[in-house]
Amino acid sequence: MPAIILVGTQWGDEGKGRVVDWLARDINIVARFNGGDNAGHTVVAQGHKLGLHLVPSGILHPHVVCLIGAGVVVNPQQLVAEIDRLAALGVDVSPARLKLSAAAHIILPTHRALDGAREAARGGDAIGTTRRGIGPVYADKAARINLRAGDMADPESFSERVAEVVSLHNRRLEEEYGLPPLPPAQIAAEYCACARRLSSHLVDGSALVGEALAAGQTILCEGAQGLLLDLDHGTYPYVTSSSTIAGGALTGLGFGPRYVSRVIGVAKAYTTRVGAGPFPTEIFDETGERIRQVGGEYGTTTGRPRRCGWLDLAILRYAARVNGLDEFALTKLDVLSGLKRIKVAVAYERAGVRTEYFPAEFGARALSEWRPVYEELPGWEEEISRVRSRAELPAAARDYIALIEEQVGIPVTFIGVGPERDQAIT
Ligand code: IMP
Repeated sequence: MPAIILVGTQWGDEGKGRVVDWLARDINIVARFNGGDNAGHTVVAQGHKLGLHLVPSGILHPHVVCLIGAGVVVNPQQLVAEIDRLAALGVDVSPARLKLSAAAHIILPTHRALDGAREAARGGDAIGTTRRGIGPVYADKAARINLRAGDMADPESFSERVAEVVSLHNRRLEEEYGLPPLPPAQIAAEYCACARRLSSHLVDGSALVGEALAAGQTILCEGAQGLLLDLDHGTYPYVTSSSTIAGGALTGLGFGPRYVSRVIGVAKAYTTRVGAGPFPTEIFDETGERIRQVGGEYGTTTGRPRRCGWLDLAILRYAARVNGLDEFALTKLDVLSGLKRIKVAVAYERAGVRTEYFPAEFGARALSEWRPVYEELPGWEEEISRVRSRAELPAAARDYIALIEEQVGIPVTFIGVGPERDQAIT
């Protein structure tokens, strides 16, 4: 019966894969609904650490079926590479377990080239994208130019269309950016080979989800990125090009709201952001560097150091409102251990006016006029990675969580205290 939606509440990298792992025991299908290989999560399989970008994190649970939904944009070469790496470690990635919606859109190498060219042309105003072709492929989706995964069912005609669209993109690369063309015939041949590999994974994703829900199965809808990277509700233009919020699960997978039983927002115990754009609680001194080092805050996809800052409750309130959150999963609380004082933004102020909600919708420039209002709390010295119940946490850590719950009005039902599977308070 139920669909559980799991979304990021900040700028992505909240540790959503970790929370999927916690929930997966009671789940039949884990379905990705947005984004592409700009996302990244690290999984540990057979003692090997793997960075996955497209295959949903549920794949390591043998009873879970994984779906890459219609709202996702797929780089087929990346998907084949991930399937091969997982298979080499003995993970079952057969078509029975890993399914690809025929309506998902296909990323071409020229989408990536156009992404890079646009970023270079923006100069100092660059978005800081992952250069995976995300912006161009979603633009082409709206312009109705793209190939979709379902086209791979006929690899020959798929590869002909690939060559056509690559040639179209080549004209843009040459005329708008003065860049050399990419080879259509070679790309067509490579994509034909991918189509042969992937066509057995194709499904009608909306039918799969709809039938599973009607049969009483549980689906976990796994969002990529986070609220403030949402195309409509994030810090535009410093956003990604898909819908990262709970509503995106419905459009990205194709089912109706009456099935939604639970919406979980994943929040890091502090805030991080990769790429450019406003970040009001960013820390520029050694405390920021310390959080980066202790938290291992480097991008899974690009390896870039993440910008680090204090927790922002105005963001979490905004996330609760936009997503209709039922609960928070709070990750990486252990990273804050050892800080003497911890600051938390509780509201914003501009010219004597106060707002409790993160003022994202008027865009990046308007946001720069607002100042965060901080509360300062005492930190805790104790190591907490072995703690397994809230009662055992140091009083200051309990107060920190209580402040979140009290200010946002939503319970915290999961607390991550270390990277290992069992290092959590649930
Ligand atoms: P794009 O999605 O590659 O177009 O990048 C747009 C913005 O979203 C950039 O600031 C990226 O750093 C950011 N971004 C995209 N995917 C992720 C992610 O999975 N985690 C964190 N930031 C991301």
